[in-house]
Amino acid sequence: MDNFVFCNPTKIIFGKGTESQVGAEVSSFSSKILLHFGGGSVVKSGLLDRVRSSLKAGGIQFFELGGVQPNPRVSLVREGIELCRKEGIQFILAVGGGSVIDSAKAIAVGVPYLGDVWDFFEYSASPKSALGVGVVLTIPAAGSEASSSAVITNSELQLKRGLTTELLRPIFAIMNPELTFSLPAYQTACGAADIMAHIMERYFTNTAHVDLTDRMCEAALRTMVSNVPQALKDPYGYDARAEIMWTGTVAHNDLLGTGRVGDWGSHSIEHEISAIWDVAHGAGLSVVFPAWMRHVYRHDVARFAQFASRVWDVEMDFRNPERTALEGIGRMESFFRSIGLPIRLSEMNITEERIGEMAEKCVLKGKGFTGNFVRLDAAAVREILNLAR
Ligand code: NZQ
Ligand code: ZN
Repeated sequence: MDNFVFCNPTKIIFGKGTESQVGAEVSSFSSKILLHFGGGSVVKSGLLDRVRSSLKAGGIQFFELGGVQPNPRVSLVREGIELCRKEGIQFILAVGGGSVIDSAKAIAVGVPYLGDVWDFFEYSASPKSALGVGVVLTIPAAGSEASSSAVITNSELQLKRGLTTELLRPIFAIMNPELTFSLPAYQTACGAADIMAHIMERYFTNTAHVDLTDRMCEAALRTMVSNVPQALKDPYGYDARAEIMWTGTVAHNDLLGTGRVGDWGSHSIEHEISAIWDVAHGAGLSVVFPAWMRHVYRHDVARFAQFASRVWDVEMDFRNPERTALEGIGRMESFFRSIGLPIRLSEMNITEERIGEMAEKCVLKGKGFTGNFVRLDAAAVREILNLAR
C-alpha cells in the first residue's frame, strides 16, 4: 500500500426531504449567492421552487443562472463569472447533476482569476482561490458532489478537459434519493456506468497489498449490480435509489483510491468521445471500458480473474484464469447491455473516421500516453477504439 493523505471535508446531508435545509445551510456561508441549474428538470419537478423558498426563508438573496447543458460549456461558465463579479457574489449553489456542479466549480475558480477561465483547463495557469460551492444533487453519476474535479467542454475547440484541485471540493452536498425518482431509465443507467467506472478506474492498479480497498471496491460494484436493475424496475423505490446515490459519492470521493494508483485511461478516452459527439459520459464509458479491459487484461490476469470471481460470481478456473478473466469482462458487458446502455461506438452512430484524431488528442493531455495500470500510447488508444467499434 502506498502512503496517502485522505481529507474529504464535504459535508454530506443525506435523506428524505433534506433539500428543505438548503437555506439554513447556505446562510452559514453567504447571504448573496448564485443559484445555478440545468435545462429544466429541476423546474419540472418543482425542486427549484422548493429551493427558492428555502433560500428566502434563510434570508438569502439569490441571482439565477440556468441552462447548463450536459457536457457543460465554458461559454456559460464565462457568463456566470461575469454575473458573480457584477453582483459581488461569493457563493454558488449548484442544483443538479455533474454538469451543473462542474459548471459551478469552474465559475468558482474563474471569478477571482484575472485571465480567461479556460487557461485552467489548458493547464497554462492554476487557480489560487475559489468561491464556495454547495450542492443539491439530482442524479447519482459523476460524483462531483464530493470530488475535487470539474470537467468542462470548449465547443469551439471540440475539447473536454478536467481540472483537479482541492479548491473545487464542494462545502456541502444535500442528497435526497427521492429527487432521483424522476430520472429517465437511460440517465439512471448512464449514471450507473459512470459510478462503476469510477470504482474500476481505481480497482485496476499495479499497487500491491491493497486488500481493504479491493474489497471496498468490490462491495461498491456489487451494490450497483444488485440495485440498478431494481431502480429501473421500480423508479420510485427509495431503497435502491438510496443505495445507488450513496455509492455514487463513495465511488468518487477518493476513499476507494487510498493507498493505490488508479488507472483513468478509460475516462481519458471517453472524454475525447463526448467532446466531439456530445454523448452522455456514462454511455461513452460503457463502450470504452469493456474494450479497454480486453486490450489490457493480460497485463494482470490474476487481478481480472479476481474481479470476475468476486464481483460477477464467475467460478474461478485455476487452471485457466484467463478464461475466468474473459468471462468477467463478458458479464460486465452483458450487465451494461441489460440496463439499456450501448457497448459499441456504432450504437451511438460514431464511425471510425475520427478515431485517429481522438487517439492523438487523448495522449496529448499526458506526456504522450494515458493510463497508469497499462500506459497507452496513441496507437494503443486507437486499437481500443477500434475494439469498441
Ligand atoms: O439539464 P436537466 O434538465 O436538469 O437534465 C439533466 C441532464 O439532461 C438530467 N437530470 C438530472 N437530474 C435529473 C434529470 N432528469 C430528471 N430528473 C432528475 N432528477 O440528466 C441529464 C444529465 O445530467 P448531467 O448533470 O450531465 O449528468 P452527470 O451527473 O452524469 O454529469 C455528467 C458530467 O460530469 C462529468 C462528465 O464528464 C459530464 O460532463 N464528470 C465529472 C466528474 C467530476 N467533476 O468529478 C467526474 C466524472 O468522471 C465525469 O467526467
Ligand atoms: Zn466519470
